[in-house]
Amino acid sequence: MSKTISDKVVRNDAGNTPFSAILEVQLSRRTVTRGGLSAALALLTGTSLSACGGSDDEPLKLGFTSLANSMTDACVVPPGYVAQVLGAWGTPLNDSAAEWDRDGKNTSKDLLNSTGMHHDGMHYFPLDGSSSEGLLVVNHEYIDEKALHPAGPTTVNNKRPAEEVRKEVNAHGVAVMHIRKTGNAWAIVKNSRYNRRFTSATPMALNGPVGGTDWVKTPYSPTGTTVRGTNNNCGNGTTPWGTYITAEENWAACFVNTQASGQPAHQVRVGVPTSAGRYKWETAAGDATEVQGEFARFNVTPSGTSALNDWRNEVNGFGYLVEIDPYNPDSVATKRTAMGRFAHEGAAYGKPEAGKPLAFYSGDDSRFEYIYRFVSDANWDPADARRSDRLAVGTKYLDKGTLYVARFNEDGSGTWLPLTLAAVGKDGTKLGDKYKTIDEILINTRAAADFVGATPMDRPEWTAVHPSNGDVYVTLTNNTSRNATTGTNAANPRLNNANGHIVRWHDTPGANTFKWEIFVFGSDAGAAADTNRSGLTTLNQLASPDGLAFDDRGIMWIQTDNGIDGGRNNAVARATNDQMLAVIPGAMTTDSKGTGPVINAQNQGDLRRFFVGPNEAEITGFAYTPDYKTIFLNIQHPVNWPAYGSNDATTAPTGTVRPRSSTVVIQKADGGPIGV
Ligand code: FEO
Ligand code: CA
Ligand code: CA
Repeated sequence: MSKTISDKVVRNDAGNTPFSAILEVQLSRRTVTRGGLSAALALLTGTSLSACGGSDDEPLKLGFTSLANSMTDACVVPPGYVAQVLGAWGTPLNDSAAEWDRDGKNTSKDLLNSTGMHHDGMHYFPLDGSSSEGLLVVNHEYIDEKALHPAGPTTVNNKRPAEEVRKEVNAHGVAVMHIRKTGNAWAIVKNSRYNRRFTSATPMALNGPVGGTDWVKTPYSPTGTTVRGTNNNCGNGTTPWGTYITAEENWAACFVNTQASGQPAHQVRVGVPTSAGRYKWETAAGDATEVQGEFARFNVTPSGTSALNDWRNEVNGFGYLVEIDPYNPDSVATKRTAMGRFAHEGAAYGKPEAGKPLAFYSGDDSRFEYIYRFVSDANWDPADARRSDRLAVGTKYLDKGTLYVARFNEDGSGTWLPLTLAAVGKDGTKLGDKYKTIDEILINTRAAADFVGATPMDRPEWTAVHPSNGDVYVTLTNNTSRNATTGTNAANPRLNNANGHIVRWHDTPGANTFKWEIFVFGSDAGAAADTNRSGLTTLNQLASPDGLAFDDRGIMWIQTDNGIDGGRNNAVARATNDQMLAVIPGAMTTDSKGTGPVINAQNQGDLRRFFVGPNEAEITGFAYTPDYKTIFLNIQHPVNWPAYGSNDATTAPTGTVRPRSSTVVIQKADGGPIGV
């Protein structure tokens, strides 16, 4: 996301920062860090990995040289690689959409039948195991109103025109694209029965403990079992049974509650605006063409005699992880409310083990918010990976379970705190004394996490799990509000954390504990040692890590969202556009004491810059084919890219173009596997 829609307001006043002896902790941690250098070096070599890119005897190694900084209106890839634009916003999925118009004149119907805007999380689902034909599922996180409409958004008599609002609603959501490689070129298979759009108006099921409760009953769904749309779909996840998970992140700002006082605490905690929604969709209410309150529902101010006479509950249908079965075009997307309600960045599942519960990890991307883990009640049955009723499998594992929130202790240990009625809070009372039911806890997820004493983090973004050793990584993108008053904690040790960092942990099998350590600190190369704690150079300096993914070989891909569209406000942003880097992490050891960083001045060369994007764009979303010969990433909110008349992502436009977020497909010119 760009700075334009990120939630900058600190809504967590729970005071969960461990304030005690902050200074002492800081000093001792630095000492410990220095002492841990040799151990960390051994960990980063990657020699412990069993997976590899070549023969089984050779360790996996990165086979490219780190790229230089770049600030152009074009993508940059290493020598020997090619990069293609695929599915830029407004690309028709079927014949119901007109071709994309350079003047922004496409209609709401066009957008309903085309790729949406501002591509983010993504996954490649092979058809019959193929590496040349599959379903690429892409999140469309939010919109650039200026680029979407001919001359930006308009307002007539203080109302947004209905057609403009519908076009914006349809530009959000998720796209399922059937894609195929012919020769070296990938293209959308137009009119495929798999092609599909989910928008901010598509009917979806509400499952789990919140589904069917009074929290979500509306005039549209008096039974509280359905809701229209998914919003601000940021990162993604997948499941071991072959479905896609899309994460609702900055949804709260699409609604408004103008009631003079008494706004529900759960709305305040997530930041539902009190004067106008982000795009003022609610102002189109009353249009002669409005269907079932399609615009009015964004105004959640109580006005009727009950929840069945106004839209007070509409916002309670948002803030979830949403499961999609891309292989079944007739399936209904399903919101999995048991997994918590907050600004979900994404979801990554822990290493599945037969006969054991499944775990899913998800960050809440706001300043001082938390990291969550959902653990299924059901034990994993590997036969479920082969079932074709995939959403029924989702119901088995994702609708019943326990949501936990992370506490990072100073000594490198950690605790998963359950958000259950029986959970004991910081004040010694029970969560069940504060909330009556599990659905009430889930609606108030952030406040429940405050209550039990979770660790406030520096904006948790993506989580990623190592494919063989099960270590979990999270990007903490930045937090310039961490100051002397808020204090630091061991897992978020830098004041004014403008550059962000990555933390990793390993869950203790069968227990609610873990060991953690810091993996890398973002920094510019020229910063003082206390900022540049990983010793980064001009070839791998990075800030605001965000997208994060492992491929199955064990290469970890780190993507950045450094807010360059908001001005080049930090030293990394003044040196380079957003980027994707690669590293091959070794496994954590059981004696981790929260030391680190794992990447330091001696081994930083193992972290290599693979890709740099065009001016002002964020790099996000990662997918790959099973043969590792094609990878996909997304360029979000470029300012002047891609070039008209070319699908070469490395070509800069001549002059000014209407910018288009897009997927970029990267291959080796010689057809070999990527990265090695
Ligand atoms: Fe949509 Fe937290 O990035
Ligand atoms: Ca993100
Ligand atoms: Ca971000």
